[in-house]
Amino acid sequence: MKKLRVKLVTNSYDIHIGSGLLAQTGQRLKELGFSDKLVIITDTTVGSLYGNTLKQALLNNSFDILTIEVPEGEEQKSLETAGRLYHQLTDFYAERTTPVLALGGGVIGDLAGFIAATYMRGVPLIQIPTTLLAQGDSSIGGKVAVNHGLLKNKIGAFYQPRLTISDISTLKTLSPREISDGLAEVIKHGVILDSEFFGYLEENIDKIKSLDEQVLERVVSHSAEIKAGVVEKDELDLGLRNILNYGHTVGHAIESVSELKVWHGEAVALGMLAEARISNWLGILEDNEVIRLENLIAKAGLPTEIPGLQLERLIQAMKHDKKILQGKIRLVLPRSIGNVFISDETSQSVIEESLAG
Ligand SMILES: NC(=O)c1ccc[n+]([C@@H]2O[C@H](COP(=O)([O-])OP(=O)(O)OC[C@H]3O[C@@H](n4cnc5c(N)ncnc54)[C@H](O)[C@@H]3O)[C@@H](O)[C@H]2O)c1
Ligand SMILES: [Zn+2]
Repeated sequence: MKKLRVKLVTNSYDIHIGSGLLAQTGQRLKELGFSDKLVIITDTTVGSLYGNTLKQALLNNSFDILTIEVPEGEEQKSLETAGRLYHQLTDFYAERTTPVLALGGGVIGDLAGFIAATYMRGVPLIQIPTTLLAQGDSSIGGKVAVNHGLLKNKIGAFYQPRLTISDISTLKTLSPREISDGLAEVIKHGVILDSEFFGYLEENIDKIKSLDEQVLERVVSHSAEIKAGVVEKDELDLGLRNILNYGHTVGHAIESVSELKVWHGEAVALGMLAEARISNWLGILEDNEVIRLENLIAKAGLPTEIPGLQLERLIQAMKHDKKILQGKIRLVLPRSIGNVFISDETSQSVIEESLAG
């Protein structure tokens, strides 16, 4: 097992990464001083796969448990669902000291995190991420949120967990497409800050895809460490965290133009490649670095060509997103693998020409 310490100004905490950790959750919570009641929030799929293992581990340590299963899917990140959950917590007499355990992917992490941040002005949160995306990215950083109308992820808070438990063995039940999707943000962490890690991913991509536990443990911990390093320096997203948006300016446009048929990680992979090509077109990123990125993305099972690319609609989407202002766009561009910078100066015509090839 690997242990990472996330050092924040007021609420530092540990991330535990390894296989079989779910079964030890009871002891871990006792060590943090919890006893008595707790609440598990999960979705139906994750609940049926891992709910019992987690519950057993907690019952062995005499916890009194309320399990709440919500249907799966992004639609559950809503104030309506949150309202129902507050009722269930109240009926259980959950108190300010009652921990909420978020067992699931990024949707559950965001929703249960939002509940923990707001119920009684904040109760302890334990993150137990079960997707590669959640273990390597979304469970770190303290952003918790629900969606509301057009406001995606914008009703929320910064709220750090007391502990994060990433049990690598839970990744075994994800589909290959879900693993690939989660790999996009992991690759992103290599491109923005760590060329050695990028090299490790290149060498081990087959083992990652066959879910080799030792390799996965390293990949998740390194990805988490890179993100935690950025978050430690910019907890409230006032500057440095912007580099985490690499691949996301073009990526979000692809996601919305595809009407969500292209998943988030897939869109980010396409966005990273597009933004690398822009940097190359500007004479900054070398040809062979673009090729390395393209190869790794392809080997990770992610797309490298924007399906039925409609440049017009992508540009429209970026304009709608207020990403293009007066013909200029803010982009995170790679100088080389492991090193990026933020450019406010890229013009719409450069984007059009480099995306058109
Ligand atoms: N807070 C942040 O900083 C942050 C960052 C990135 C993304 N997000 C959010 O994360 C969400 C996406 O997360 P996600 O991709 O994990 O989606 P998800 O939570 O919807 O999980 C994807 C699917 O996998 C299933 N699943 C989860 N774990 C499983 C397992 N071990 N075995 C089998 N099936 C499993 C779920 O039931 C679900 O159907 C989005 O809502 C996004 O906004 C948040
Ligand atoms: Zn993302």
